Amino acid sequence: MKNILITGGAGFIGSHVVRLYTNKYPDYHIFNLDALTYAGNLENLSDVEKMPNYTFLKGDIKDINYINGIFEKYRFDAVIHLAAESHVDRSIVDPNAFIETNVLGTANLLNAFKNLWQGNYEGKLFYHVSTDEVYGALGKEGLFKETTPYDPQSPYSASKAASDHLVRAYGNTYGMPFNISNCSNNYGPNQFPEKLIPLFIHNIRNRKNLPVYGDGQYTRDWLYVTDHAKAIDTVFHTGIRNETYNIGGLNEWANLNLIKLLCEKMDAKLAQPAGTAAELITYVKDRAGHDRRYAIDNTKIQTELGWKPEMTFQEGLEKTVDWYLNNETWLNNVTSGAYQKYYAEMYES
Ligand code: NAD
Ligand code: DAU
Repeated sequence: MKNILITGGAGFIGSHVVRLYTNKYPDYHIFNLDALTYAGNLENLSDVEKMPNYTFLKGDIKDINYINGIFEKYRFDAVIHLAAESHVDRSIVDPNAFIETNVLGTANLLNAFKNLWQGNYEGKLFYHVSTDEVYGALGKEGLFKETTPYDPQSPYSASKAASDHLVRAYGNTYGMPFNISNCSNNYGPNQFPEKLIPLFIHNIRNRKNLPVYGDGQYTRDWLYVTDHAKAIDTVFHTGIRNETYNIGGLNEWANLNLIKLLCEKMDAKLAQPAGTAAELITYVKDRAGHDRRYAIDNTKIQTELGWKPEMTFQEGLEKTVDWYLNNETWLNNVTSGAYQKYYAEMYES
């Protein structure tokens, strides 16, 4: 049996990776390490928590003593590292939180993995989950390739770029086997309602304004979250070690077009006259340093590893809207702080 540490497994993408791995690989023991920040929520894993091959570890990747202790105790064969501060707007307000978790936290995990295996890395892997934002912003043309030079523009993307560089440096200097994947914008169930799609679903439901930054022509390449989880699984099992893979949905949308589509779907679901949700669209001050466009060239992972996105955007958005409308309690809990009570009852009583 392999012991696999997944960090950030109570968050949005991490919870889908934990679900995939616990179900698909009964011979792996999955340890989910999460600090349960505002973005981490064990309710995301209520269907997984009693599985015999799953253990939750509440801890902070910034805490070097704790990290060293769990590596010594559980002797992780592989790490899939997702824990991070992940929201660009928060990084503009409090950059240090991002430097501490994303850079120093990643360094703590790398050091613990290095100290544990002492150069005997046969069958071991440090897999770092990163973002396309490290490449900076595109103009109207072009796509991010694995060879695109790094040019991060926000404190968030700079902290992720720094962590990517550290992972490569440990591979080069200490011979540590690693993979890095850089993915485009994810959407789907369990995403914290600070990010565009869940925030706007929540606001339409509650008849609150939809704050569109700038001219609304900023463009993102959207991928359904379970497609990302499957891509991580593909790289983990079949990726060439020490290679980087870009992951994207081949699905570019200018924000305003996406928001209009979302409004149409919400009008239909809420059985309200067409145009009702769109009345809430409100142009607000732009995000500082806002990256104009992201788009991924995923040729490498498609041709070399055979992964491709499965979910169409129409279907994925439909599923996402349905999930949020059917999980109002989840939404109310994560927005009200009641989740803290859930955690105390679940794990501290
Ligand atoms: P998220 O914010 O939903 O979840 C992050 C998780 O990490 C939470 O459960 C949180 O409690 C945990 N965490 C935060 N700080 C921690 C710490 N110091 N110690 C331990 N746990 C901590 O994020 P997400 O959107 O699921 O993103 C996961 C990863 O994927 C991140 O590394 C992010 O950079 C990357 N990524 C995200 C996207 C996207 O569109 N969301 C796209 C590409 C890459
Ligand atoms: O590209 C991958 C990245 O995608 C991940 O690394 C990040 O963790 C993830 O948060 C996401 O970053 P973005 O900044 O692209 O996502 P966000 O949902 O915050 O914003 C999407 C677009 O919508 C962006 O152009 C900003 C705009 N926006 C966002 C919010 C929250 C608005 O116009 N209004 C809003 O209220």
